[in-house]
Amino acid sequence: MIEADLRQRVVETARALNASGINQGTSGNVSARIDGGLLITPTSLPYEQMQAADLVALDLQGQPLHEGQRRPSSEWRLHADILRQRPEAQAVVHCHSTSATALACHGRGIPAFHYMVAVAGGVDVRCAPYALFGTQIFSDLALAALEGRQAALLAQHGQVTLATSLQQALRLAIEVETLARMYLQALQLGEPRVLDVAQMAAVQQQFSALLYGAA
Ligand code: 13P
Repeated sequence: MIEADLRQRVVETARALNASGINQGTSGNVSARIDGGLLITPTSLPYEQMQAADLVALDLQGQPLHEGQRRPSSEWRLHADILRQRPEAQAVVHCHSTSATALACHGRGIPAFHYMVAVAGGVDVRCAPYALFGTQIFSDLALAALEGRQAALLAQHGQVTLATSLQQALRLAIEVETLARMYLQALQLGEPRVLDVAQMAAVQQQFSALLYGAA
């Protein structure tokens, strides 16, 4: 995809975060891989004002690829580290969705209370311990929670997803929020039963057999 189109898609994805109800205000940030680095939303710019030219191009160490750009998202380390350490990732979405964040405020991830947890790549969605936003330790803890997964909750903060496209990263963030909401509701009657490792492996096999989510 040419960079101008990708820039437009990053802006559309950022706007879709708020339009879908999984984010609010200038919280959250979006990035996509480009040759030699990433395009990322600028810090603190309302999404409805954001234009393709406002996106910031960085290399994977966080150095600007062009002069005179806006300041990148405060979470550029998280995005650059994910794209550097997870070669399969083409896009990263971070947002402060309400139910995922509510769980993460208790330091709780999402166990396999529902088979759709497997869409995040494993038997659960882990919660990374709290660290100050924008720091290397915050990024390191998030990367650890993402090991073998495409999504993680972030304590006292929100959630992050990675995927092979912007659209998939956004869809996964919406799915994580839905699962978190379901889990919070299920918890009102007590801790729900959790599917075991064999049952979740069977779910993964079924996803593969039916090419589930590949459309
Ligand atoms: P930015 O506006 O710097 O991207 O920050 C938003 C955010 O969610 C920080 O975690």
